[in-house]
Amino acid sequence: MKFLMQSPPGPRVRMNDKDVDYFCGCCYLGLNAYPDMVEAACRAARTYGIGCGTSRAGHGNNPVLLDVEARAARFFQAEAALYYVSGYLGMLILLQGLSEDYDVIFCDAASHYSVRTAAAAAGKSCIPFAHRSPEDLRRQLENHLQSGQRPLVLTDGVFPISGEIAPVADYLEVVSRFDNFTICLDDAHAYGVLGDNGRGVRENFHLEKEPNIYSCGTLSKAFGGHGGIITGTQAFIDRLKTKSDVYYASSAVPNPSAAATACAIDLAGQNPHLRRQLWQNVALARNEFRRLGFPLADTPVPIVALHSRPDVDLEKLADVLFTDRNKVVRYVAPDAYSGVPAGGAIRIAIFANHTEAQILALVQDVREIIDGE
Ligand SMILES: Cc1ncc(COP(=O)(O)O)c(C=O)c1O
Repeated sequence: MKFLMQSPPGPRVRMNDKDVDYFCGCCYLGLNAYPDMVEAACRAARTYGIGCGTSRAGHGNNPVLLDVEARAARFFQAEAALYYVSGYLGMLILLQGLSEDYDVIFCDAASHYSVRTAAAAAGKSCIPFAHRSPEDLRRQLENHLQSGQRPLVLTDGVFPISGEIAPVADYLEVVSRFDNFTICLDDAHAYGVLGDNGRGVRENFHLEKEPNIYSCGTLSKAFGGHGGIITGTQAFIDRLKTKSDVYYASSAVPNPSAAATACAIDLAGQNPHLRRQLWQNVALARNEFRRLGFPLADTPVPIVALHSRPDVDLEKLADVLFTDRNKVVRYVAPDAYSGVPAGGAIRIAIFANHTEAQILALVQDVREIIDGE
């Protein structure tokens, strides 16, 4: 089925000419159409125009872009931040910046395209390890790393379809026996969501002080804005700027989007109740779908994946939900995206501003469709 969004994304949208409850995408904090953000975008467009016209390393820098970085540094409690045009490019930027620090890449086999693209571009040997398996990581390190070589471990922080969290603390234990190691996370689905303050998987595992674990993320998902973000010490961010051709040879996020994003970062920082509300909604959805017999881990990740099982045709279930029940969930076929669970899955995205009634109605509809009523 083809879908056309005819309104801002959020818990209730206009799609294919009808009003529906929306459980797709990544609007986790529910900010995408927030009035202050829209106003900020309009003001920035009037003051600075739409695009910068050249890269930030040349003459394309401006106060809006610097403002995003200052606010992101504050949110992530870091000295500095680097803001770039798409979260997809984050791992590429990290690997370019760190290129002198690693010899062999070890990459979770189910990693996102962004991670695989960056690994391929690094021009070093890349060994996959079994999805979320510290044991296999250990095996691959033993088999492929020669004495004196420095490993780099790559993974999604949260996997976008399954909603699983990478066991980063276990990876750290496995690699920390090497003198020099690096771990890099694509934390696109955890920024704004995981950790007491929404600082992502490193905060979730209390690993923020680990000097060898880096992460990149996006402001296009939970924050409802646009663009990728990396935070760290001033020296580290300066190093990324000099070593990354993405930074010095591409245009920045357009000014209206950047200004809205700056506003979103402050909204997320000043309104922790949004994250608490999100976690509450996630717990409700996970509990209720568990009662329907879907095995689901007890985590605050707002991606609830219904795995394939013999008595349910997942694709048909998603179709009927849209056609007859006015609800949108995403069916993902086995090879249609990175990291899809075996047999495909229905990906249900939960937002802070879904109502309890919306979540319960979705569960009830799924129950009725499965039971054939
Ligand atoms: C793990 C992961 N990284 C990066 C991205 C891309 O981020 P952006 O949309 O900001 O380019 C996605 C998008 O779906 C993703 O799932």
